[in-house]
Amino acid sequence: MTYAIIGFGKIGQALAKAFARSDIDVSVATTRDPESYASEAAAIGPSVRPTTLSDAIKADVIFLAVRFDAHRDVAKALPDWQGKVIVDVTNAYGVPLEKLGDQPSAQVVANAFAGGRVVKGFNHLAAGALEQDPNVNGGRRVVFLSSDDEAAVTEIGRLAVDLGFAPINLGGLSEGGLLVQARGNKWGHLIFKDLVKFD
Ligand SMILES: NC(=O)c1ccc[n+]([C@@H]2O[C@H](COP(=O)([O-])OP(=O)(O)OC[C@H]3O[C@@H](n4cnc5c(N)ncnc54)[C@H](OP(=O)(O)O)[C@@H]3O)[C@@H](O)[C@H]2O)c1
Repeated sequence: MTYAIIGFGKIGQALAKAFARSDIDVSVATTRDPESYASEAAAIGPSVRPTTLSDAIKADVIFLAVRFDAHRDVAKALPDWQGKVIVDVTNAYGVPLEKLGDQPSAQVVANAFAGGRVVKGFNHLAAGALEQDPNVNGGRRVVFLSSDDEAAVTEIGRLAVDLGFAPINLGGLSEGGLLVQARGNKWGHLIFKDLVKFD
């Protein structure tokens, strides 16, 4: 399985730190020349590989860590995302509902990534919390996942465990998944709830 993070801002770097901590290879890409952020990537760890957008989208699993409005530009990079898992880490806070066609934001992302298997996840924590070691006093920091694709959410759940988190599956994007989606000027009820699970 190969992994990429599109967007290397606050949340992209927080995710990259999680991959580096677990020594799992991940490509990172933005609209910029990878050389321009190579030193930031190197500072996070050797498993974080700066690359071009066209190279990053070859990965099996792609974390979408760009501002919500930029998801359409990323989606245009491939005509068909068949077989790929897109982890939607965006928060559409403040995006007018009419711009979303009154749909949940993750559904809008799923529509844009035609053929892709979208999992909403890793978006409910501020970057400053997500970048911390998820092992907290012997428990594991919770990440919420939701998807209309059972196999995809299982796959990302396994990855979350490998990254040291405790994944909780909320169900479909338009069901439990609404709890972690911003809508207009409202945050989903589980957003910013930094929880730790003890087995
Ligand atoms: N910050 C948080 O605490 C937090 C927490 C949870 C979720 N989120 C969500 O995560 C997303 C990113 O937030 P952020 O705070 O990390 O934003 P940010 O710091 O502004 O970073 C955005 C990144 O996306 C890249 N980018 C923009 N357009 C792109 C495109 N078309 N193709 C590839 N890369 C592109 C930018 O790089 P270039 O412009 O240089 O290409 C930059 O690296 C947002 O949807 C936000 O709501 C943020």
